[in-house]
Amino acid sequence: MNQQQAYQFTIPQNVHFGLGSLKKLPDFLKDNASDHVFLISDHGLESIGLVKKIKDIVIDAGIKVSEYLEVKPNPTVAIVDEAVALYKKSGATSIIALGGGSPMDVAKAVGVLAVYGGKITEYEGAHKVPGPIIPIIAIPTTAGTGSEVTAFSVITDESRNYKLTVFSYELLPKYALLDPKLIMTAPASIAAACGIDALIHAMEAYVSRDSSPFSDAMAEKAMELIGANIRRFVANRKDEEAACAMMAGSNFAGIAFAWARLGNVHAMSHPVSAFFGVPHGVANSILLPVIAQYNALADQGRYEKIYNYISVEKEPVNNFKPEMLVREIRKLNEDLGIPSCLSEVGVTEDKIPQMAEDAMKSGNIAANPRSSTLKDIINLYHQAL
Ligand SMILES: NC(=O)c1ccc[n+]([C@@H]2O[C@H](COP(=O)([O-])OP(=O)(O)OC[C@H]3O[C@@H](n4cnc5c(N)ncnc54)[C@H](O)[C@@H]3O)[C@@H](O)[C@H]2O)c1
Ligand SMILES: [Zn+2]
Repeated sequence: MNQQQAYQFTIPQNVHFGLGSLKKLPDFLKDNASDHVFLISDHGLESIGLVKKIKDIVIDAGIKVSEYLEVKPNPTVAIVDEAVALYKKSGATSIIALGGGSPMDVAKAVGVLAVYGGKITEYEGAHKVPGPIIPIIAIPTTAGTGSEVTAFSVITDESRNYKLTVFSYELLPKYALLDPKLIMTAPASIAAACGIDALIHAMEAYVSRDSSPFSDAMAEKAMELIGANIRRFVANRKDEEAACAMMAGSNFAGIAFAWARLGNVHAMSHPVSAFFGVPHGVANSILLPVIAQYNALADQGRYEKIYNYISVEKEPVNNFKPEMLVREIRKLNEDLGIPSCLSEVGVTEDKIPQMAEDAMKSGNIAANPRSSTLKDIINLYHQAL
């Protein structure tokens, strides 16, 4: 948004992208110089044989492997504590995070606590991690959160129904291995929710007050790749070209928002997931059209660009109006089978005041292009209900 914006960026030391690139894992392991890795993943990925596949590669490379597979969507403080205890007992010296955002975020939290101790709640907020964490090799299986290149770990504190964010550049994984073959096993509903989440990362970063020419470049390419391929990918996850575009797009979107932050969609979706267990991508997708409408007032010409990236209409548009983007987003949600309102996913009105209070605590509120008061957020939740 701001051509004068000063900016900085660091991306993980080594990002590798390619169909079938999982076979490069031994090179990463060698470079990582750790003779015992701790694999963090979930039972969903175990059930499709992926966990075993990774373990076999590690063992064949002559490296010892221990595992923690109890990660659940919207992972909790208790899951992190359990994983840290096992990590410490194992004697491992590095971590492989295999999965969507949930295993990757748990891995980052384990990486912090294994070095500096305490509870993950003590590191909540910005820049509280004192120094380097356990080296992480991130292998995403969704496209996706972009967590393999972000400085965030999002963990649910069940004691207060709150999704806390640890934000520190120390959390950036040392390696990211992006093999689009790994996202092809996702059911359509997960591909849709994760795909829209990635698109929202790019959109929110693109209109963020903290955007820079660097984050814009990443966000625009992400929107181009995801916009042109999300429908195709959800329709057929075995479509290699679409899978490659989604995986790269999700990664670029992650890089964009790691540096430009997000906005009201993410600020408001975290409480929805914390109170009602709604999957992250689903909560975001439902909120998106309402927030896009709200932010239209602050648009500085970027809505038309976003519209052109995601629209199925190929003819150039005359007299573009921001409402056209809002309509297009609703159509995308509908095409991909996303519920149209929060009440459809079990959200109830009585929690709106508390959810709004919690949303206001998010750093993403300050990055949203249009300023928001508590009252605005309450209104927006009512509209999305
Ligand atoms: N750290 C960040 O920067 C960041 C950014 C956005 C979201 N998040 C967090 O990430 C979490 C959401 O992650 P997610 O949306 O990737 O989902 P997830 O990791 O919670 O996984 C959801 C389900 O999909 C299954 N799954 C994953 N990949 C699969 C595959 N290839 N084939 C079949 N099944 C597969 C898993 O087994 C799981 O049951 C939320 O907690 C969210 O807050 C973090
Ligand atoms: Zn997200």
